[in-house]
Amino acid sequence: MTESPAAAAVLVAGSANLDFVVRAAHIPAPGETVLGRDFRTFPGGKGANQAVAAARAGGAPTRMLLALGDDAHARPLEDSLRAAGVSLDIRRQAALPTGVAFICLADGAENAITVAPGANAALAPDDLPALDGVGYLLLQLETPLDSVAAYAARAQAAGVRVVLNAAPAQALPEALLRLIDVLVVNEGELAMLVGDDGDLIAALARLPVPCAVVTLGAAGCMAREGEALHLQPAFPVEAVDTTGAGDTFCGALVAALARGDALPVALRDAAAASALACSALGAQSSVPARAQVQALLAGAGDAPGRAALAARCGLAA
Ligand code: RIB
Repeated sequence: MTESPAAAAVLVAGSANLDFVVRAAHIPAPGETVLGRDFRTFPGGKGANQAVAAARAGGAPTRMLLALGDDAHARPLEDSLRAAGVSLDIRRQAALPTGVAFICLADGAENAITVAPGANAALAPDDLPALDGVGYLLLQLETPLDSVAAYAARAQAAGVRVVLNAAPAQALPEALLRLIDVLVVNEGELAMLVGDDGDLIAALARLPVPCAVVTLGAAGCMAREGEALHLQPAFPVEAVDTTGAGDTFCGALVAALARGDALPVALRDAAAASALACSALGAQSSVPARAQVQALLAGAGDAPGRAALAARCGLAA
C-alpha cells in the first residue's frame, strides 16, 4: 500500500473479537430457537475491524493498541491485523480469554451480535503507547469507558485528533464528548446521546463536537462540520453481510482524513468502502483494498439516492 512519507499515523485503540457466525433465515425473537445453516469464524471486533479498514484504505501507517488472551482465539486476530499491515501493541491478558462475538447473520444481510469482551475489558487507562508520529486516534466503546476517556484526553493534550465511533450505543459524559474532534454514530447511537425527536439536523447540532457524522445504512450518511452539512448517499450493492460495514466506514474515513483529504472526499471514500464491505461475508474478511474502492468510485459517478437522502435528513436536495 502506498504511503505518503508525510502522512501522520492512525492509531486505533480498541477491541478485537473472534466472531462466531451462524447464518439463518432470520434472527431469532426472544425465546425462539432458529435452525441455522453453516457456521464459520471470522476475525472481528470493532477496533480491529476499523484498524484493518484504515490500513487497507492506505496512505497512512496504521497501528493498534489491543488486549488479547493467551489462547487459540488470539492467533487469527493477530494474523488478520498483521496481514492487513497493522502494527500491533498487544496487552496480553494471561488470565482472561480473548474477546468473542456470537453473530446470527440473517438472509436479509442484517445481524444480531452478542459480545463477550474477555481481555478487551482489561485494556487500562495507562495502556496507551507514546503518540509520536500519530495524527489521528480512533476509538470505539467496546473497551472500558474510563480507558477511552483517558486515551482521548492524552491525545487531545498531545495535539492528536480524536475520532470516536460511539458504538455500541451508550450514554456518554459531556466531558468525554468535548475531547472528540470527529464523532461517528448510527441513528440509534445518536438517539442514545442526544435523544430522538425525528430531526437529524437538530440532533447533530446538539452534540458538543466540531464534527459529527450520522450513518443511515443503505441511505448513506450526513455530516455536520461546524455549521456546514454534507450529504453522502450510499453506493448500491448486493448486500450479503452488513457485519463490520460501519467499522469499515470509520477506518476508511480516518485514513482519508489522515491523508489530508477534506471531509466530503473522505465521506465518499468511506461510503464506497463500506458498501463493498457489505458484499462479502465476515467483518475483516470483507474490508476492501484501496484499489477496489477506487474502481467503484471511478465507475460510479455520484452515488444515486441524493434526493432521497436529503429528504430523509429534512433538507432540499
Ligand atoms: O461491528 C461489528 C463487530 O461488532 C463484530 O466484528 C463483532 O466482533 C462486534 O465487535
